[in-house]
Amino acid sequence: MQRKIELILNGHAVSVEAEATDSLLDVLRGPLGVSGARFGCGMAQCGSCAVLVDGEEKAACAMEVGAVAGKAVMTSEGLGTPERPHPLQAAFLELQAGQCGYCLSGILVGAKALLDRNADPNRAEIAQALDWHLCRCGVHNRILEAVALAARRMREGAPA
Ligand code: FES
Ligand code: FES
Repeated sequence: MQRKIELILNGHAVSVEAEATDSLLDVLRGPLGVSGARFGCGMAQCGSCAVLVDGEEKAACAMEVGAVAGKAVMTSEGLGTPERPHPLQAAFLELQAGQCGYCLSGILVGAKALLDRNADPNRAEIAQALDWHLCRCGVHNRILEAVALAARRMREGAPA
């Protein structure tokens, strides 16, 4: 049975009619109209659907939307805008840390979760945090460098 589910999506209070057991990813991309989180494996194994739920990285494909009622959900759309990109987005663009881009929305929110809990991660810590994210284009080195660059700029005061 459908019911009204209220949540905070990218900083805005929203409500949506859905079955509580519907996939969070389907509801985000469908009735809620945000397409940053992407379907890859559907089994919580690739990271392309990653979102933050109350600041914690989760696979939206493996969560029921009912589980985020009353919680704050952030997708890559909540990070920044073309006019005011998040330092992570700016660094990824600057270092061209991507090829097809399919994995990047999930990697960006995963990197944000990392920098929120560790402002100065070393390369191994960045690699470990992003380890479950699959990038079939093989731009891993640039991705690690971009996260480190964004972290340095944020420590130097770049607004996030
Ligand atoms: S689509 Fe959710 S982790 Fe792969
Ligand atoms: S840039 Fe293509 S999958 Fe990562």
